[in-house]
Amino acid sequence: MAGTDGVTGGTGAGWSDRFEQGLHPFIERFNASIGFDITLLQEDLDGSVAHARMLGRCGLISSDESAALIEGLETIRREAAAGSFVPGLDDEDVHFAVERRLIALLGPLGKKLHTGRSRNDQVGTDLRLWLRRRIDGLDERLQRFQRALLHQALDHAETLIPGYTHLQRAQPLLLAHHLLAYVEMAQRDRERLADVRRRVNVSPLGAAALAGTPLPIDRRATAADLGFEGVYANSLDAVSDRDFTVEFAAAASLVMAHLSRLAEEVIVWASEEFGFVRLSDRCATGSSLMPQKKNPDVPELVRGKTGRVFGHLQGLLTMIKGLPLAYNKDFQEDKEALFDCVRTTEDCLEAMAIVFEEGLAFRPERLARAVQSDYANATDVADYLVGRGVPFREAYQLVGGLVKTCLEEGVLLRDLPLERWQALHPSFEADIHAAIDPRRVVEVRTSEGGTGHRRVREQLERWSALLL
Ligand code: ARG
Repeated sequence: MAGTDGVTGGTGAGWSDRFEQGLHPFIERFNASIGFDITLLQEDLDGSVAHARMLGRCGLISSDESAALIEGLETIRREAAAGSFVPGLDDEDVHFAVERRLIALLGPLGKKLHTGRSRNDQVGTDLRLWLRRRIDGLDERLQRFQRALLHQALDHAETLIPGYTHLQRAQPLLLAHHLLAYVEMAQRDRERLADVRRRVNVSPLGAAALAGTPLPIDRRATAADLGFEGVYANSLDAVSDRDFTVEFAAAASLVMAHLSRLAEEVIVWASEEFGFVRLSDRCATGSSLMPQKKNPDVPELVRGKTGRVFGHLQGLLTMIKGLPLAYNKDFQEDKEALFDCVRTTEDCLEAMAIVFEEGLAFRPERLARAVQSDYANATDVADYLVGRGVPFREAYQLVGGLVKTCLEEGVLLRDLPLERWQALHPSFEADIHAAIDPRRVVEVRTSEGGTGHRRVREQLERWSALLL
């Protein structure tokens, strides 16, 4: 492992001649991050290209040297695409791997790339570039997920579904209203990620190891070249800030929490007991033993994977707590957490989008039967009396008593004859039956944000304009 093509020609990967012995083989593996930070290869090359360009423009190297370094870096990019750039453990990390290959390609000139730069500002740059791109991908996936929900909502603009509180039947809703609630959550997720992105999009490059550099570098130039919106004002903060990983994990955790809630609903809806949706063969699996089964594996996996992302949030917070300034190797631990947060959230968003695109069908007949078969219109009986001057609390008590007797008799409110209503209160008239029909019960809830058809239609139009 004591490579002779090492970055400095020392004993191990990239150390100075201060080191006389190579690393213990176990420690070499323990220390290395190349197994996972190879994920950052493109961003490492991008950052190095910008750095090499800046070195040339600032006169720290000649413009020919700058061009040759950039060409060498692009050669490595091509080699990676062709599968011939295969770093080993002795490269330690992606940064050393690239630098070492550059030196192998260009000879002594390759050794000029690291001028005025440290791996500490380099890794921070790579990670931010990588995360910025993936946040953009997450926004696209969130939109696709929103669109999948919106299409179902548009298809069910008239379908009713029981609404629950405490998972007890509460009041009927438009199914579209229920689905749009998740579209709203996803929108907040998008806003949160966009906000995190602003703080991710700041360049630490040029902070060097921790204190800056005496060399006349131009941090603004590399920042602009890489599309960063600004530079860190403090070099210590630049190399030791991992707040953005925590913020991102928190935003991703909320995405997952929302997906998990929806996943739970799908699982419940698909049960025999609810029967509100039928799972299509595209997204459900069978049992190896029970031939009758069709399992909602996809939402179950989404629900289960939520724990990973929550766990990474806790892990990242714990990782940075107690770290003195500036760089500490502990930071190397941010990568696998961040990578897994991103991949898990991406996958779960895509999976749930597919479920709503083609993995389930709502069952209008079951939903209609469900909304007809409960006492979820009891509030509307009370509201009916309120409309005729009865104080709400008195109406509430009366209806409570009525529901109790109906439950005992096993009859529904809608099946009570007019005499029964009038015996309860003289204000009841023949229109009580229409007033408690579930469709009407929904129709009249037109307060802003309510489930009334008119309000939901407005929202469907609003979201269609935004998403379709
Ligand atoms: N592989 C390292 C990481 O991920 C790169 C930075 C190393 N810097 C250092 N001073 N050892 O954090």
